[in-house]
Amino acid sequence: MSQVSVEKNKKWRLIELLNTTTDYLSEREFEDARLNAERLLSHALGLSRVELYTNFDKPLTADELNVCRALLKRRMAHEPLQYILGETEFYSLPFKVTQDVFIPRPETELLVEKVIEHCSAQYADQTDIQIVDVGAGSGNIAISIAKNIENTILTAVDISRDALKIAYGNAQAHEVDVKLKELDALKPWPAEYSRAFDFVVCNPPYIGFSEYESLQPEIKNYEPKISLLSGNDGLDFYRKFANIAPTLLKQGGYVFFEIGERQAASVKNIYADCGFSGISIYNDLAGKNRVIKMQWARN
Ligand SMILES: C[S@@+](CC[C@H](N)C(=O)[O-])C[C@H]1O[C@@H](n2cnc3c(N)ncnc32)[C@H](O)[C@@H]1O
Repeated sequence: MSQVSVEKNKKWRLIELLNTTTDYLSEREFEDARLNAERLLSHALGLSRVELYTNFDKPLTADELNVCRALLKRRMAHEPLQYILGETEFYSLPFKVTQDVFIPRPETELLVEKVIEHCSAQYADQTDIQIVDVGAGSGNIAISIAKNIENTILTAVDISRDALKIAYGNAQAHEVDVKLKELDALKPWPAEYSRAFDFVVCNPPYIGFSEYESLQPEIKNYEPKISLLSGNDGLDFYRKFANIAPTLLKQGGYVFFEIGERQAASVKNIYADCGFSGISIYNDLAGKNRVIKMQWARN
C-alpha cells in the first residue's frame, strides 16, 4: 500500500493497481495474493472478476482509488476477505457474513453432505424429518439442508442473538423456512424440544486454549471467540452436550457432529459412554476424520 500511497499524484490504471496490490500482498506472504487482489478490487469497483480484465486500461478516479485503498488496508490488518466482502459461498450457495458469525468452512460441507445422504437413503418416505442445527452461526448448515431436501423441518439455535440475525437474513434471502431460537444448547432445553428431533446436526466450537493462541490472526482477531473455543482440550462442548442430546432425539435418532481432525476417538468414547451406538466416522478428501454420526437407540 505504501507504493500506492507514496505516488500520490500518479494516475492509476486498473491493471497497474491490480498488479501492485498483488505484489504488495504477496511480498507480505498473504496466501492467494492474486485472488485476494482481484476480489478486493472487484468489490471496491463493483466489477466482476472478468470485467477487471476487460477494463484493465480503465483510469481510476480519486474516489475509486480511495475505496480500493481502504479495503486493502483492512486486508493488510488480516481481516478475513469474507468479512470485507460481506459474503462467502457454502454448498454452492451465497451467505452473508459479518464479524458476528463464524465464516462457513469448506470442511463443513461434508457434514451437510452426510446428513443429506442419510436423509435420502433412510428417510425418503418420511414426510417431516425434524432436524435441529445446533450453533447455527450464519445458518449455512440448516439453510443448505433445507434447500436440498424437501421433506425436512428445520430448527436452528444459537447462543448469539447477533448471529441469529444474520441467519434470519440468509434464510429469507434463500426463501427457506428455518425456525430460529436463541438458547444456550448446553443447558436444559424448553419442553417443546423434548424428544422432538430425528437429527441433531452440529458444528460446535472445538478449539482448545493452547491451539487457540496459535491460530492465525484472521481467525483469532476477527471470528467470534464463542464460535471457536471449547475448554482446555477443545472437547468441553461435546462433553456437556452428551447429556443434552438424548433429551432432544427421538428413539433411533442421530447426532451428526463436525469434529477436529484428532478428536474422533475422544468424541466417540464420550458418546458411547452416554449410551450412543452405531457410531460412524467420515473422512474428508485429505483423509482426515471430520464428521461423526451416532445413534440414540434407547428409549
Ligand atoms: C463453529 S461455529 C459454527 C457455525 C455454523 N454452524 C457453521 O458451521 O459454519 C459454532 C457456533 O456455535 C455457537 N455456540 C457456541 N456455544 C454455544 C452454546 N452453548 N449454545 C448455542 N450455541 C453456541 C456459536 O455462537 C457459533 O455460532
